[in-house]
Amino acid sequence: MYRSHNCGELRAADINKEVTLAGWVQKSRDKGFMIWVDLRDRYGITQLIFDEARTDETIMQQARSLGREFVIQIKGTVIERESKNMNIPTGEIEVLVNELTILNGAQLPPFTIEDETDGGEDLRMKYRYLDIRRNPVKNGLLFRHKVTQEVRNYLANLDFCEVETPYLIKSTPEGARDFVVPSRMNPGQFYALPQSPQTFKQLLMVGGLDRYFQIVKCFRDEDLRADRQPEFTQIDCEMSFIEQEDILNVFEGLTHHLLKTIHGIDIAQFPRMTFDEAMRKYGNDKPDIRFGMEFGELNAITQHKEFAVFNNAELVVGIAVPEAASYTRKQIDALIEWVKRPQIGALGMVYCKCELDGTFKSSVDKFYDQTDLAKWAEVTGAKAGDLILVLSGPANKTRTQLSALRMELANRLGLRKSKEFAPLWVMDFPLLEWDEETERYHAMHHPFTSPKKEDMHLLDTDPGKVRANAYDLVLNGNEIGGGSIRIHDKETQALMFKHLGFTAAEAQEQFGFLMNAFQYGAPPHGGLAFGLDRLVAILGGQETIRDFIAFPKNNAGRDVMIDAPAAIDNAQLDELNLALNLKQ
Ligand code: AMO
Repeated sequence: MYRSHNCGELRAADINKEVTLAGWVQKSRDKGFMIWVDLRDRYGITQLIFDEARTDETIMQQARSLGREFVIQIKGTVIERESKNMNIPTGEIEVLVNELTILNGAQLPPFTIEDETDGGEDLRMKYRYLDIRRNPVKNGLLFRHKVTQEVRNYLANLDFCEVETPYLIKSTPEGARDFVVPSRMNPGQFYALPQSPQTFKQLLMVGGLDRYFQIVKCFRDEDLRADRQPEFTQIDCEMSFIEQEDILNVFEGLTHHLLKTIHGIDIAQFPRMTFDEAMRKYGNDKPDIRFGMEFGELNAITQHKEFAVFNNAELVVGIAVPEAASYTRKQIDALIEWVKRPQIGALGMVYCKCELDGTFKSSVDKFYDQTDLAKWAEVTGAKAGDLILVLSGPANKTRTQLSALRMELANRLGLRKSKEFAPLWVMDFPLLEWDEETERYHAMHHPFTSPKKEDMHLLDTDPGKVRANAYDLVLNGNEIGGGSIRIHDKETQALMFKHLGFTAAEAQEQFGFLMNAFQYGAPPHGGLAFGLDRLVAILGGQETIRDFIAFPKNNAGRDVMIDAPAAIDNAQLDELNLALNLKQ
């Protein structure tokens, strides 16, 4: 038996027990006649004591040789600690060691295995197995496990059946590039790794499975950010014979259950907002509604004066920054510089201070009098002491810029509180999105999403105006899930592909399997997928998903621990029929 107890288990009630423990040496303190060692495992830390007066000399010698992260096993007696540490659960006791076995030595770790480590991101990723010994990372993984368990229980209780779908598939367009895998047995041909199991889960519905879910890896070759990994995990779901409302209820129920069980938070009903409203009020389809700063459109009250910048703008829009009227000229200039950075791209910014005495002081006082500015305050909801910031220009672009500014200010002002949770359904997304680069429409969600019946007639005349039966769940300004009611008949699916610029032959070649299946009695169906990594990170009070993934990739898509991706040798390339292709 390696251990009778773990390192987080012993309490005052165990005093006088003979125990066997195993774990890692967190640290040791050698006072000459006495040595204390903190022994650590996943469950906690237990203090060991070696005492010249009570411990064998050979064991004292052995104890002196212990280094950080040595793996040891000890036998000893639980005794009461003289100076108790009430900060840890085992702090009332220590174990007086009478037998010590060094199970494995350890080199000095390249960074300290402490909650606050001295190791930088790269180093910690290279030695991720050491990083995982640290509480923040370990707890992140345990937390993820807990969320996953809750999700499985919840869905299984509602008759969702977990089915594994294949990883070696044909490309499914979800808006990113595919990772591809060459096929040795089919020279010159490639599998694609799924960006999601979208078509398979729909085929499971055609197969009559009725309710499916899967906690599944998805692969997307896209630019990486704090909330994006090239391989990530979805809680992927699909249901038959349902309407949008049924799906929203089930997954609102799941999210409610998680917030309740994990944080004890009870949000009776999640608010809903249309895509159009989200864009108008927040300039963003995943608004953080934990704080206000809603957009106020100022066109009607600014375009009657001689200020050409506003008069020529499609949109003049502002936000009220709480209690920021006291900002100095320098602080405001810094904000103006911030919005003018190429990443944001504003040409300038107008401001108006709502002074505490009820007067207004703006950067455009030349054009607007106190009555005008009072209206700005009214429309943006600014109170005395607030600062109104105004951007103008093409509508979509300006909204995006002001949204970025709103989020930046909220971060700086500490308005995005990690312990506060504000879920929101965003609904009625546009079906299609114009892509400037390729000069054609793309499916905003994916090509299997159904258009709203009442908008179908616009498909030929004004495709950008057609709304989809598509919805996202937003939590604290992050898109944690998205889904739709699907097309389930061949004709509509073919029409959709036509509008996405596929010829009938291309559609048949790529998606014939799905359209054929629709001819064999496909039930009405729909579903949704949550991003598990994001959900876990946000529930855990963070926005960086890496901290909740055991072995994440860095921003260049590399696993620096195993050093992947890597070149493969010519023989392997040859076998895959790729050597030839490279030479061509
Ligand atoms: P969608 O593309 O919206 O929908 O993806 C669902 C959710 O997955 C998460 N997500 C990511 N998380 C981490 N890294 C990434 N690179 C990444 N990309 C997406 C997001 C997102 O909301 N098949 C559809 C679902 C459906 O229609 O049922 C789909 O994949 O949280």
